Amino acid sequence: MARLLSFICLLCLVGAALGQDMPYEELMAQIQACPRECHCPPNFPRAVYCDNKGLKSIPNIPPYTWYLYLQNNLIEALSKDALRNATQLRWLNLNRNKITSEGVEEGVLSGMSHLAHLYMDDNLLSSVPSPLPASLEHLRLSRNRISKIPAGVFSGLDKLNLLDLQGNKLMDDAVTEVSLKGLNTLVQINLAKNQLTSMPLGLPPTTTQLFLDGNNIEKIPAGYFKGLPKVAFVRLNHNKLGSSGVPKNVFNVSSILDLQLSHNQLTEVPVIPSGLEHLHLDHNNIKNVTGSSVCPVSLDTLDDTVNDSAPRLRYLRLDGNDIKPPIPRDIILCFRLLSSIVI
Ligand SMILES: *[C@@H]1O[C@H](CO)[C@@H](O)[C@H](O)[C@H]1NC(C)=O
Ligand SMILES: *[C@@H]1O[C@H](CO)[C@@H](O)[C@H](O)[C@H]1NC(C)=O
Ligand SMILES: *[C@@H]1O[C@H](CO)[C@@H](O)[C@H](O)[C@H]1NC(C)=O
Ligand SMILES: *[C@@H]1O[C@H](CO)[C@@H](O)[C@H](O)[C@H]1NC(C)=O
Repeated sequence: MARLLSFICLLCLVGAALGQDMPYEELMAQIQACPRECHCPPNFPRAVYCDNKGLKSIPNIPPYTWYLYLQNNLIEALSKDALRNATQLRWLNLNRNKITSEGVEEGVLSGMSHLAHLYMDDNLLSSVPSPLPASLEHLRLSRNRISKIPAGVFSGLDKLNLLDLQGNKLMDDAVTEVSLKGLNTLVQINLAKNQLTSMPLGLPPTTTQLFLDGNNIEKIPAGYFKGLPKVAFVRLNHNKLGSSGVPKNVFNVSSILDLQLSHNQLTEVPVIPSGLEHLHLDHNNIKNVTGSSVCPVSLDTLDDTVNDSAPRLRYLRLDGNDIKPPIPRDIILCFRLLSSIVI
């Protein structure tokens, strides 16, 4: 009996893989419409692979395509014509092409009402494409030439949780409350390697991961993270932060678990929350570290029990700061859970 059951189950698995719940006529139409330049695997009929083919334009895409792979080509434009029938797309990978903002035909993306993942890394965009479909969950636009975020481009994008804009040309005036308005469910935003000199304004309170490495940020407004009650991962490596630009309690926010401030100009260890687990302070100008200046709780109250209110730091980097060993004993006393310290 068990054997029969597993046989039946095998059959249903094969059936599901073959058709992906696709009616036979659709399956045939899909396979017949496969562009010559592309590969349409019969056992995965909703996927169309046209990557690495030297394509200069998008071929006519079959109507029942959900997953479309066009990365690593020479495509310059995103034209409505070729994508006219591709209204069911869930996943569109256009990484490493030559698409300019002028080449994105008006309405070509907003017409894809199921599109959840749009990848356009390593293209020649100068602006965030607009309008975008409300179904979008992940938008990757890293390493373009984006200097503009059109006002309202994210309005109504209530599912967008990942926005990757690293390696672009964004300046402070592009990342504003107006341009980011509508990102109501954003979890991760990557603005690393742009040209920001101040912290971005208008991030939604859902933000959990904020990546700002490799900008020119000099200071953080007091209470900046108060508006971001869920922020847990803050990366500010390779900026221009000096201790005078870091208000006393700005990072003392209980939600932060991972704080990276490597390669800045800090002269003092900032005040950290008790719950912080990872702290990167390497390659700054910190000359001296003492337990009393680093420990988030008073050293006198520490005893041998490690309870919930005990500091949770596990990983600490202080190398590249000219701090002379040995590691002060009160740092070890303070951070009982510390498993790695680089000095
Ligand atoms: C779209 O589908 C119609 C009907 O199946 C077909 O005649 C037409 O050639 C298709 N257009 C493109 C651009 O694939
Ligand atoms: C950090 O925040 C906690 C909780 O709000 C507070 O008790 C503590 O005094 C603050 N640390 C410093 C040095 O102000
Ligand atoms: C670091 O600071 C403490 C207290 O201010 C002081 O006792 C100690 O000598 C300093 N260490 C170095 C290496 O400057
Ligand atoms: C937790 O540990 C801290 C520091 O060791 C101590 O001050 C505090 O009284 C302890 N709290 C409880 C509930 O045991």
